[in-house]
Formats: sequence, C-alpha cells, structure tokens
Amino acid sequence: AQLGIDAIWLSPVCRSPQDDNGYDISDYRDIDPLFGNLNDMEELIAEGKKRNIRIILDLVLNHSSDEHPWFIEAKKSKENPYHDYYVWRDGVEGEYPNDMRAAFGGPAWEWVPELGQYYFHQFSVKQPDLNWDNPKLRQEIYDMILWWMDKGVGGFRLDVIDQIAKEPDRKITNNGPKLHDYIRELSANTFQKGDLITVGEAWGANTENAKLYSAPDGSEFSMVFQFEHVENGSGDYGKWTTEKYDFKEFKRIMIKWQEELQGKAWNSLFLGNHDQPRSVSRFGNDNPAYRETSAKMLATCLHMMQGTPYVYQGEELGMTNVYFDKLEDYRDIESINFFTELTESGLMTPEYIMKCLMLRSRDNARTPMQWDDSAQAGFTDGAPWIKVNPNYKEINAAQQLADPNSIFYYYQKLIRLRKEKDIIVYGGFEPLYRDNEQIFAYIRRLEQEKLLTVCNFSDKNAEMEIPEEFKGAECLITNLDRTVFEGKTVLKPYEAFVLYKK
Ligand code: GLC
Repeated sequence: AQLGIDAIWLSPVCRSPQDDNGYDISDYRDIDPLFGNLNDMEELIAEGKKRNIRIILDLVLNHSSDEHPWFIEAKKSKENPYHDYYVWRDGVEGEYPNDMRAAFGGPAWEWVPELGQYYFHQFSVKQPDLNWDNPKLRQEIYDMILWWMDKGVGGFRLDVIDQIAKEPDRKITNNGPKLHDYIRELSANTFQKGDLITVGEAWGANTENAKLYSAPDGSEFSMVFQFEHVENGSGDYGKWTTEKYDFKEFKRIMIKWQEELQGKAWNSLFLGNHDQPRSVSRFGNDNPAYRETSAKMLATCLHMMQGTPYVYQGEELGMTNVYFDKLEDYRDIESINFFTELTESGLMTPEYIMKCLMLRSRDNARTPMQWDDSAQAGFTDGAPWIKVNPNYKEINAAQQLADPNSIFYYYQKLIRLRKEKDIIVYGGFEPLYRDNEQIFAYIRRLEQEKLLTVCNFSDKNAEMEIPEEFKGAECLITNLDRTVFEGKTVLKPYEAFVLYKK
C-alpha cells in the first residue's frame, strides 16, 4: 500500500505437490497448506479491498499436477470419463509418438504401462497437459474460475495460455489454430462477467497477435506478457548462455511494442519476474557503485512507457541475482534438469553451465524477500526453502524505508506520477535517438502536454542534446543530482530523468 500499487499478482498458491513451485496444481479450489488456507485467502482479499489492492491469482490452465484427481482417474482406464481431460497417444514403450521435447528437458511424452499409452506434457512429467478440445474440461475450468470470482479476486494471470491449443501431432505448442476461439470462449464465460484485470502469459506473443489478446473490445484479456525483450540474448541452447543482452536489440524491441500497440492494444511492462534473473543484475549493474542508480534508471525507463508496469517483489529494493555457485543450492526444476541434460550429453562442461545458471537461473529471482537485517532477512524464523541472498544486510526493506533517497521511494514516486499525469497513461509514444548505443530516450505527447524520458543504459558517460522544445520544462524525477536540463549535455553512467512541459 505504501508503494502505491493497485494489485498484487500472487504466484500460484493453490494446492500443489510443488514440483514446479506451484505451477502443478492438484486442487484448483484450495490453498496449499504451505501458504495457509481458504480463510487466509479470503482475509487477504478483504484486506486488499480495504486498501484498493486487487488480488490477482495465477491460473495454470494448460496442465494440472499428475496428482490432481482428474489425472488419477484419467490413468485408470481409457473408458474413464476423465481420460479425455488429458492428451494421450497409443504406442509402444520406448517409441515416442514423436520427438517433441518438454520445456524442462527430456521427451514431452510419458509412458503409462497400464494403458499402453503416452501422455503429453509440455513441462515436467508431473505436469500433464490438459485437453482443451474436450468441452467438459473447459466447462469445469469455467466453473472453477467463476467460483474464484465469487470469492472476490480482482483478476487472473493466465499461465502459458498460448499453449492450451496445442496439436502435438503437428508439433504445434504455442499459437495453435484454435487458440483464440478457446480464449474468447473462456473470457465470455468467465472474465467478462466481472470487473477483472487479466493478463495472459504468451511466450509466442508478437505485436500482431497481441492485438487479438488485448483487443479493446475486451473479448480476450486486458493484456499479455510478451517475452521478446527478455529472450533477446538467447544462444544455441536458449537461455543457457553467458552472453549479455544486446542493448540496441532490446531497445528496438521495446520501441516496436510501444509503436505497434498504440491505440490498438495494451502493453504489459516488465523487466523481471519469477522466471527471469533479477532485472538490475541483467539490464542494469548490480555492482554496489551502480546498483542504486541503475535500478532507478530501469524503473524510470519502464514506468514512463505506455502500458501497465509490473514490479516483481524486491525489485523495488534493487534486489540482485543470488549467484549460487553450487548445484545443491538450486531448487528450480528447470535449472536442475538442464544442468543434468547439458552436462550428460556433453554439450556443456559443468563449470560452464554453472556460470549460465548464475546469470540466468530462475532461482535468482526466487530467494526470500529481504525485509530487514535480522536472521534470514526477516523472512522466516525457520529454515527457508531456498537460501537468502547474502546481501540482505545491505539490501532490505527496513533500510530503504529509513532512507528518503532509496530505490523504494523512487518507485513510490514513479507510481504516484503515473496516477497524477494522464500523459503517462494515454500519451502517444515517439522514440528519440533510435540508433544511440547507450541512450534510451522517448517523448510522450497528449494534446498540449509533452514528456521526455532519458535513460543512459551504460556504465560510461553519454553525450546528447536535450530537444529545444523542452526548454524550460519541469523535471519530474531524476536519479542523480542534475539541475540543468537544456542543450548539449553529458549523461553520467545510468543517469535518468523525466521532463514535463505543458
Ligand atoms: C510459466 C510459469 C513458469 C512455469 C511454467 C509452467 O512459464 O511462469 O514458472 O514453470 O509456466 O507452468
């Protein structure tokens, strides 16, 4: 509430064996005892309402846990009414229906000897894919969503939603031909009956299909998470690389999404989440000399764009990657599986993949929230499920709340500015210095108003000229101590500022 946010997106909290941190749900209508119970959830929703904060649930609809009663039934026989809730192919042991691979490594097919069939799983073996071609399954899902809406949740984040219309025989995972029909049916039967924020997670989103996903007529979702800007820098083995991201490419992608969605769809703005490394470590600089400045710069760049900004927990404190250097410290199934797969196949040495994990593992973002400098960063007085980042003594919420210049208060100010100035929400977007290799700058315009955002993404000084039309403009926010905002100037490393003129 103090930060000024309007909603909290919770990672999955439904009952789950936690094979993939709750993205494997065994009961969609209950809370996992790890986190509490349904009463706690109702209380959270009610307390949120008092503060105008919506609770957004993470809906995992592409797959369930293999411990979900539907799957337990489905496995009993081909005649079982739940059998067709999942995706099966007849076959013989050892001869997979095709060579599709699962996102967490290994084949996408798992043999069930009792049935003489394989089931399809795009993620782990404990996450069997649901069969959206079955109308009974779809109806069960809608009923469950309506049940949560009835409890007063303020929205949903739809996990890997672009993968629900898979067609494994044609090796189609994302963007299957029936995808938008399914989403429209889902939305009409559920979301459109309430006042909700919905955001679809779509690894296969592009600026064309985004116009469907977040069509202004509300027929699908409020917006989608696209991943082009965070996929940039992937190598031959996907994200498992030590290459740094390419700034110019990153900027090109961000600008493309701003320009192409204007007036046609709505952007979601993020630099980090539970699947990505910490944004300050990746796009900024987590060296103590630059951590604070670069975290504020990144926040400036993102918050002044058109779209809905998402702040991943701890980002508002400038939390950094944890850089675990021992495999035993990792908990994430993806990191552990790929370590094994890439080393056993001889494609990478253990030393090299450890370096990749340190930069790219999802666990970098999953260490406990750093509340204060007491044991376990004040997260628990027990033993946390994953180690706390050792830098919690310097980086924690208590310290930042006591420092008026902290990253926390900077985010608070950015969020307040978005609420005060319509131009930040509605203004048109115009990039400046497209080809500059250090600076990301853009202008927003709304009738007579204009806003200039300037960010130096590099650890070097950068030269630029502030456009004449901003002469005499008001500085809304800056992360360093600049007082002159005219003419030719030199930006310091990671410097950022925003000018406003009417
Ligand atoms: C999404 C989630 C990720 C999860 C995967 C499978 O990408 O964000 O954490 O592992 O889907 O559900």
